[in-house]
Amino acid sequence: MIFENLLTIIENGILTITINRPDKLNALNKKTVEEIGLAIRNAENNRDIKGIIITGAGEKSFVAGADISELFGLSIEEGKNYAKAGQLVFESIERSSKPVIAAINGFALGAGCELAMACHLRVAGENAKFGQPEVSLGLISAYGGTQRLIQYIGKTKATELHLTGDLISAEEALKLGLVNYVVPKEKIISKCVELLEKIKSKSPTAISSVINSLNSHFEKDVDGFNTEIEEFGKCLGTEDFKEGTSAFIEKRKAVFVGK
Ligand code: COA
Repeated sequence: MIFENLLTIIENGILTITINRPDKLNALNKKTVEEIGLAIRNAENNRDIKGIIITGAGEKSFVAGADISELFGLSIEEGKNYAKAGQLVFESIERSSKPVIAAINGFALGAGCELAMACHLRVAGENAKFGQPEVSLGLISAYGGTQRLIQYIGKTKATELHLTGDLISAEEALKLGLVNYVVPKEKIISKCVELLEKIKSKSPTAISSVINSLNSHFEKDVDGFNTEIEEFGKCLGTEDFKEGTSAFIEKRKAVFVGK
């Protein structure tokens, strides 16, 4: 599928989505957010795709925020709809049954930090910078930033970053638990591929179940322990479970079919 603001490629079962507005440091305009949503939906329905990498085009930036030029002139109601639409797309990433890794090749600011946080794992280049600088613009996060940053780094530091708008380095992000790995810039994609290759060798049904179960911890009015019980039960009914346990007993490598 051809997108206006995304480049997509599927290689060895891994879909790489590159946000392609480098002259605007890959700032997310409405069209780009919609396209990300569409790419994730397509991937969900494509059995050949086992994992997803989201990255930004160019040398400098993953995503430098929402496209500020589009925010001018929005009414209060339009602003709320704008936030809701983006949140739904980011939620679809978080709920994707396939593992999604953010390959953070530079600035991850505002909506960029939020996009990285909606992914399941984050690999940052040494040059990456993170922050929620919206208060400098008279704004706050719109795509889940006030909620997810607390989940990852706790209230103390999340509050400081949201109140000051300060940017932090990749090393600081690693120390705070915001990212999984920091690697030299040229190794970001290969580290993501290495992680996805490992995950791809596991049962896709189990991966989907564990994503659901982990997400349920943060869902209001949902008992995550119950979700775990349900998902565990679901796993027992899969061909993958039969294959995984048979392979263990027969001392061979499991070949999962994702059913
Ligand atoms: N929205 C729209 N355009 C953006 C953008 C954004 N969030 N971030 C960068 N750009 C554009 C700039 O306007 C500039 O476009 P131009 O060349 O047509 O003028 C281009 O990207 C390059 O940005 P520039 O500011 O010249 O690069 P820099 O290296 O000097 O600074 C940043 C990089 C990231 C520090 C700076 O661009 C910035 O502060 N961006 C906004 C970050 C932000 O507040 N994000 C939250 C938005 S809600």
